[in-house]
Amino acid sequence: MIEKIKVYGKQKVNGKVNISGAKNAALPLLAAALLSSDGMHLKNVPPLTDIATMLALLENLGVDCQVLKNSPHANSIKLKTDSVENFTAPYEIVKKMRASVLVLGPLLSRLGRCRVSLPGGCAIGVRPIDLHLKGMEALGATTELRDGYVYASAPRGLRGAEFAFPIVTVTGTENVMMAAALANGTTILKNVAREPEIVDLANCLNKMGANISGQGTDTIVIQGVTSLRCSEHTVVPDRIEAGTYALAAGITGGRVDLLGGDFRKLLPGFLDKMEATGLSFSPIDDGLRAESSGKISPVDIDTEPFPGYPTDLQAQCMAMLCLADGESTIRENIWENRFMHVAELMRMGADISISGTHAHVRGAKHLVAAPVMATDLRASFSLVLAALAAEGDTVIDRVYHLNRGYCCVKEKFAGCGVELERMR
Ligand code: EPZ
Repeated sequence: MIEKIKVYGKQKVNGKVNISGAKNAALPLLAAALLSSDGMHLKNVPPLTDIATMLALLENLGVDCQVLKNSPHANSIKLKTDSVENFTAPYEIVKKMRASVLVLGPLLSRLGRCRVSLPGGCAIGVRPIDLHLKGMEALGATTELRDGYVYASAPRGLRGAEFAFPIVTVTGTENVMMAAALANGTTILKNVAREPEIVDLANCLNKMGANISGQGTDTIVIQGVTSLRCSEHTVVPDRIEAGTYALAAGITGGRVDLLGGDFRKLLPGFLDKMEATGLSFSPIDDGLRAESSGKISPVDIDTEPFPGYPTDLQAQCMAMLCLADGESTIRENIWENRFMHVAELMRMGADISISGTHAHVRGAKHLVAAPVMATDLRASFSLVLAALAAEGDTVIDRVYHLNRGYCCVKEKFAGCGVELERMR
């Protein structure tokens, strides 16, 4: 496993990047395959370790997964789902990736019961699933927590209901929407997440024969159907990867063409805020051009559910604001501990102070290379961005975090004239 990368400093991004399919769309789409015994054919799936983890979980449940490599940064996957009998998602797999909890709704719906390991916390917070369970109970399931597992059952099937989420939860919305697709009757979900990945999942379920409307708004209506069929679906492009490479152009004073999606629609809250820092965005064929103005202006950011500023771009943006010509404030309103990258950025000369979930970033004249360590997926890329702009060459350790959510980083940066070196 590649553990370290060396990032040469003072590089300028200048080129184009093919944006892969969205990790956070592909994961629920793979779980949705469990809802039908007819299988599923998924295209534009990014070759990431989180995807491999989900495939291992599906195989453990009895799904046959065939991965076909279409290009270095996209696979298509054929899933054969006619012999799903195992209803347990084991701790050994779930502990690697919280999104494994997405099999809960589909298993409960398909088999009438399931036993799913509690995900456990991770670097960015406790990450409970209480709202997932409250949603399942609203659909008539009983749930019990025992020996680190959730036991859920609905022997007489699930029934449509009205349920309002007390707070917006992305995978909670996805889990309950999948369970409701085969429930008996109509389900109305309120205060749901509005992320493009939710829309992509609902669109795929409708292709499978579900009857879902309202996706992308704060209320989703699901008319339960009796069965779902095989469908072919292309995963929506990864808006977080696109935003991350746009910030690479911002922090290095360069320009990057983000290819493979309409990122103006996928990143509204991000683009508005980043234009205030001096990044400009212009539509091009099959994508969006991000271009630095050569300076970085400070901004204040509040992370919010879609269409607000994405929490998954907070760490990467903080790296850029470390070189702004002024002071910025970042309020992380989604996760209670998503500043693990701050200590590492400060080792590189960043001037940041934390107060609770607020980070105050005073722009520095420059950053300096230092040995640093990745702590979580998005934090790992914030260190890459800082290293690209720093004086000297930075070695980043524990980059397995990076491989969870970003594929072909070395190759994609090479397409922009930027050199990284993998180290054993
Ligand atoms: C999804 O996580 C994403 N992961 C995360 O991306 C992303 O940061 C997050 O949404 C917010 O946008 C995937 O889609 C696989 P939430 P999720 O449920 O669904 C609280 C990445 O970097 N909450 O929307 O787990 C929770 O503690 C990852 O790709 C409950 O209290 O996040 C948090 O404070 C990191 N009870 C808030 O809601 C629940 O039952 C939002 O969490 C569920 C959530």
